[in-house]
Amino acid sequence: MNKKSTVTIGDNIYDLPLIDGTIGPSVIDVSKLYGDSNYFTYDPGFTSTASCKSSITYIDGDKGECFYRGYPMDVLAEESNFLEIVYLLWQEELPDKKQWSEFSEAIKNHTMVHEQFKNFFNGFRRASHPMAITVACVAALSAFYPDSTNVNDLNQRVISARRMIAKVPTLAAMAYKYSIGQPFIYPDNSLNYTENFLKMCFAVPAETFKVNKVFARALDKIFILHADHEQNASTSTVRLAASSGVNPFASISTGFTSLWGPLHGGANEAALNMLKTIGDVKNIKKYVDKAKDKNDPFRLMGFGHRVYKNYDPRAKVMQKTCHEVLDEVGRSDDKLLEVAKELEKIALNDKYFIEKKLYPNIDFYSGITLSAMGFPSSMFTVLFAIARTAGWLAHWKEMCLDPKNKIGRPRQLYTGEKPRKFKPLQNR
Ligand code: ACO
Repeated sequence: MNKKSTVTIGDNIYDLPLIDGTIGPSVIDVSKLYGDSNYFTYDPGFTSTASCKSSITYIDGDKGECFYRGYPMDVLAEESNFLEIVYLLWQEELPDKKQWSEFSEAIKNHTMVHEQFKNFFNGFRRASHPMAITVACVAALSAFYPDSTNVNDLNQRVISARRMIAKVPTLAAMAYKYSIGQPFIYPDNSLNYTENFLKMCFAVPAETFKVNKVFARALDKIFILHADHEQNASTSTVRLAASSGVNPFASISTGFTSLWGPLHGGANEAALNMLKTIGDVKNIKKYVDKAKDKNDPFRLMGFGHRVYKNYDPRAKVMQKTCHEVLDEVGRSDDKLLEVAKELEKIALNDKYFIEKKLYPNIDFYSGITLSAMGFPSSMFTVLFAIARTAGWLAHWKEMCLDPKNKIGRPRQLYTGEKPRKFKPLQNR
């Protein structure tokens, strides 16, 4: 059957083409509607609007499933490694052995940052939030590496992407070291991507550092879980910024800033703080009631998602990883974990949360896990950003290769003053 869609405005009927994807909802193409009818569509928060075509990640929010390039993300988290996922997102296929060896070596070649970066760090106050420093450093990459800023040059695009994958962990670890007043630790290319990051964060020059393999595997999984999530706020921000043709470092830095908000990547920090505030299972009811109270701005952090109307598949892997890390540090009876599990149980059986389809999201258990590994909560969003750099870069590349790419320019419903006459100050 030939599917057709029309919109009737007054006496006029406009045909709107329907476009099918491989799976998931089809879309109604409204791109010509304004030209034909003089009406815009209105969709604050993009709740019903697809802003682009993409072949990177598919989420089935009702079933609670997520796929990277067609592979179930929870399977990848258990069986692959983060750098392989970076390759998959960027190159569209998993690498064979030769491609893997070339790619992982190429990333290692870029792990160091320009020595002058140390001076850049010195301009920050010691107490600065590591995310504030990291955001600034990523934007500053375009000043340090101007030879890979031309978005129209394929070679420069590849080099800038590899630089960001390799250098963002180094900068993030430096931001952390700076904020706690410890010396920077240079990258160690004998280690894998995640082990090297742990070493740059937790080693000190005075002692020999031994990588904790359980932590390294857990963090690698966490990176995989956070690597991409289709057109979320930060990815859409990167796409919108990049649509102007600005250099890749500047584009990706906008992802960092958007991610930082408590409703997005900042939620893991907020979720852990919330669990600490609740403190004890006996206080849970009070906070669940607060979350349900329309007159109280309090929300259960780590609960709810725009797309998932079922258990977030990332939260399932995260919960298991949380147990593995707490076992490793001998804290399987951790008080916060006890509060989290009980809170989850109560909320999942509560009418308010059932009706609104509010389930734990990835951030619910990630804070406890990262904290048990030794990361302060101020580093949580930074860790998320390291992982999501892979997704932002894949979306940026997809956009650069799309011949239909145009500068992003949403329209508006104007509700301000009608044109009026200016009165000079002396007449007001
Ligand atoms: N606690 C209590 N009530 C909630 C919560 C929550 N965590 N989340 C949503 N609701 C309620 C809202 O009050 C709203 O109720 P209403 O329909 O009676 O007005 C309804 O559920 C729908 O919520 P919206 O905010 O409209 O849903 P939206 O899709 O815009 O927001 C979001 C999704 C931002 C994730 C929201 O659920 C939230 O604020 N959660 C807490 C923050 C959080 O955990 N963010 C992490 C997201 S995952 C990530 O970025 C990796």
